[in-house]
Amino acid sequence: MTDATMLPELEPIGPADTARVVAKVLTPTAGRGTIKRRPAVMRLLERHDVDRGAIELLRSLRASHGPNPLRLSLPGRDYVIIVDPDDARRVLDGTPAPFAIANLEKQAALRQFQPHNSLISDPPERGPRREFQEHALQSEQVFHEVAADVQRIVEQEIEGFAALVASMGRIDWEDWVPCWYRIVRRVVLGEVARDDHRLTDDLATLRSRANLSVLASEDEQTRARFRARLARHLERAESGSLAATIAALDTGTVDPADQVPQWLFAFEPAGMATYRTLALLAAHGETDGDQHGTSEVASAAHGSDPEPTGPGGVPRLDHLRAAVLESLRLWPTTPAILRDTTEATAWRGRSLPEGAGVVVYAPLLHRDPDLVDAPDTFRPGRWDPTGFTTDEPGPIVPFSAGPGICPGRNVVLLTCSLALAALTSRLSTSVIGDTRLPPGNLPSVLDPFSLSLAVQAR
Ligand code: HEM
Repeated sequence: MTDATMLPELEPIGPADTARVVAKVLTPTAGRGTIKRRPAVMRLLERHDVDRGAIELLRSLRASHGPNPLRLSLPGRDYVIIVDPDDARRVLDGTPAPFAIANLEKQAALRQFQPHNSLISDPPERGPRREFQEHALQSEQVFHEVAADVQRIVEQEIEGFAALVASMGRIDWEDWVPCWYRIVRRVVLGEVARDDHRLTDDLATLRSRANLSVLASEDEQTRARFRARLARHLERAESGSLAATIAALDTGTVDPADQVPQWLFAFEPAGMATYRTLALLAAHGETDGDQHGTSEVASAAHGSDPEPTGPGGVPRLDHLRAAVLESLRLWPTTPAILRDTTEATAWRGRSLPEGAGVVVYAPLLHRDPDLVDAPDTFRPGRWDPTGFTTDEPGPIVPFSAGPGICPGRNVVLLTCSLALAALTSRLSTSVIGDTRLPPGNLPSVLDPFSLSLAVQAR
């Protein structure tokens, strides 16, 4: 094995290229709000198709500098941006060493509401915390043990929601979010939490501070109130909720109230992905009752017949799971997966020292035409039922990969696909402003906050 400390260091790219990467890749990624999206910025980024510029810039730098990570020498800290798909896989597989998941900026952000979370823990604390996450979320199972309860909750909440929006004739983001959060609080914490808006609002306050990462001080009062409220919901361990699954676990030294904030936070991007998928299905003629249409999307998106089911007869909904994955490929909700090097690492005869920040920039991996066939086309058929792409050479990593892969992935796909089934069986929809989602030329950013759908009851 190469001793990286003996190799010459990876040269930083020049100041002009560094300035371009900061302006076109890092600033828009941080500016949109990494922990809580900023609607005004999202609108602007979509209007200027900003991530396409970022992808093009990184492709051209890869063409001129070669496949090694692009090293940026910034005041106080060095970063590299990964531009090669094999390097991306290596970084994600090398979690938590030599690529620590508890990266500096992520730690500074997430400490606002979950200072002891697995995602910002180093070994040895990380081990049991990650294990808790996998056990509680039953990561390896397509159907979590509460799947039938999730289906019941989704059906109940969407029934009322669909009636309301059908009477209005449209869905706006502001209609969808309260419905989605009621589903999330019931699934995670139980019926009593259904209307606990205070819990979600306190978390939103903390998430907004988290956007500022190292620049924000801690709001200990809000954090303490949020945590105490969450702990009381967890203690209740309501049957049929994820809290009940937790109560049945031997959690050892891990306090679930330190780990569950990530779930409540991360369910919001899942709501975004669901909403964007609904729009994609509408723009591609998938919710107009044409369940056996002949378009590429229609044939790729339809599930097998008969639909496989899980415990309690819950349908697996492969076609809708694939559609959600495809929307996350197009618009990854974690565009920058961050790591820090824990030691010097070797890169094709060059070394990168310990303590550098590493950015795996998902939009490049997901939309680079050299890596992905028809990158700007909604093509759910590229995903197989196990949730891996069938035909792409590079990694597509909406849920990350390796030992840091999202342990909530199956719970997310279950909840989102059930929600989409409940929505599309009740409503036919079309996107208002039909130029926003041109098939085959989908925008690089899709602002969900200004996205509205015209709806009719079926
Ligand atoms: C669209 C929805 C979601 C996406 C795209 C997503 C994606 C991700 C990604 C990319 C990571 C890795 C971050 C990193 O390496 O820095 C992650 C971590 C994590 N996610 Fe998700 N997530 C989603 C929703 C959820 C939900 C709903 C839950 C729980 C119910 C969840 C639980 C977690 C946990 C606990 C971690 C930390 C894992 C660790 O410490 O190794 N996620 N997620």
